[in-house]
Amino acid sequence: MKPFYITTPIYYVNGRPHIGHAYTTFAADTLARYWRQRGHEVVFLCGTDENSQKNVEAAHKEGERDIQKFVDRMSAVWQETWDSLGISHDVFVRTTSPEHKKAVTALAAKVWEAGDIYKGVYEGLYCVGCEAFLTDSDLENGLCSIHRLPPKPIKEENYFFRLSKYRGRLLDHIEAHPKFIQPESRRNELTHYIANAMADISITRQSAEWGIPLPQDSSQAIYVWFDALINYLTGVGYGSDEKRFKKTWPADLHLVGKDIIKFHCALWPAMLISVGLPLPERVFAHGYFTVNGQKMGKSAGNDIDPTALAKEWGIDALRYFLLREIPFGEDGDFSLERFKERYEGDLANGLGNFAARVLAMTEKYLDGRVPEVVSAPVEDLWTAFNDAVEKLAFDEALRLIWLRIGECDRLINTEEPWVLAKTDKTRLERVLYILLENLRQVSLMLWPIMPETSEQILARLGVLAIEKSEPLSERRVWGGLKPGTKVKKGDILFPKKS
Ligand code: MSP
Repeated sequence: MKPFYITTPIYYVNGRPHIGHAYTTFAADTLARYWRQRGHEVVFLCGTDENSQKNVEAAHKEGERDIQKFVDRMSAVWQETWDSLGISHDVFVRTTSPEHKKAVTALAAKVWEAGDIYKGVYEGLYCVGCEAFLTDSDLENGLCSIHRLPPKPIKEENYFFRLSKYRGRLLDHIEAHPKFIQPESRRNELTHYIANAMADISITRQSAEWGIPLPQDSSQAIYVWFDALINYLTGVGYGSDEKRFKKTWPADLHLVGKDIIKFHCALWPAMLISVGLPLPERVFAHGYFTVNGQKMGKSAGNDIDPTALAKEWGIDALRYFLLREIPFGEDGDFSLERFKERYEGDLANGLGNFAARVLAMTEKYLDGRVPEVVSAPVEDLWTAFNDAVEKLAFDEALRLIWLRIGECDRLINTEEPWVLAKTDKTRLERVLYILLENLRQVSLMLWPIMPETSEQILARLGVLAIEKSEPLSERRVWGGLKPGTKVKKGDILFPKKS
């Protein structure tokens, strides 16, 4: 069976990862875990985009003359960050690796043979921040609308890719495959762009001191986006391991921010059609978030380090917050204040308190033993939960879980197990079983989003960790918690900070 192949963008190494990069990466990690938990083989790709002018400028700024040395050092920072945040990627691509460079050269040669590359003169405005030529609609008062910097006027002889040749085929593909670009607002944006504005694109830069040379004219370096997109192929064996490549490609999902959707849904599919490769199944663009209402960035000095936050509050709390707070696909805002509110309200007083109460009562009234199974008194949540995750509505998926936690809290308050312990042992056992089994169900559901917390609760419930157990299809059935199992309360899951 073909593995589920999911990718994040490969990030530039001109700076360290900030919370915006962690956002995309956490979302991709959640989906990778979601499919693994459901028994699918998964290939989850991350990486670094290294042949960029931005990286060269960053190296120079640090007084580093050896660009390769600089990108080596910075790529390691990104890899370490993802490792320390528990990201479960299977592949980490680097675009300065010999395999990637070789495959990019080979692919460019194929595009050339297809007659899709020609020489022309480019005259226009280039924004190094975007690594892109800007059009009027990208400008505000003469400045790049994203980077708020004046673009550089450039006139040079370049090689162009016949992007416009693919207009019809791209539009047909988008129409025939409604899932190809999501959410729908982005799909409409792209359809409009492809139909009305998309033009041939310069895919080389003259006299670039850094980058992969164009095989047919080594005085020119291949444009960083043309090179970077190919990472999705080279990361799974294109040009080096055909068997692996055939098994894995096409990607099931490219996750990207809305800033780079055009590259992924116009240039990229056109390149693939040009060389006769199948197109990715789905590209999903999430929104951008601000920090305390301000655009986040190094120059603004407000970019937030995800590792520091995770160290203070826990990785799972950060994952929870980002995926719960901002509806995936929409813009949002990050503030520490809001983070603390959700930490206290949803995690410490919500999930954490629910788990602690149920486990403590079982210890206290039933000697820590799971009572007899009670048949399902509540509606199965799995279908709605799975639907939400599969449409990448993470906020909705989490809301469903927290509704269930709320119902369980109400059950505790109305049944008052501390009273039942004295008056009605049979009823007490029934109530506690329902609560314990709900806790197990909720933990299984939460695993892709909050893996560590999920594992901790499952361990306290005396059941196996996710990766060591039977398939989820069996585990998720109501009644899986076996009578007699010993449970323990354990430490506080989300300690309050003040
Ligand atoms: N190197 C290119 C991608 C090449 S993929 C073939 C690139 N790199 S980047 O380092 O600039 O990363 C951009 C991505 O970072 C966005 O698409 C998004 O995934 C993430 N984000 C950066 N800032 C963000 C926010 N403020 N909010 C949400 N996501 C953000 O573009």
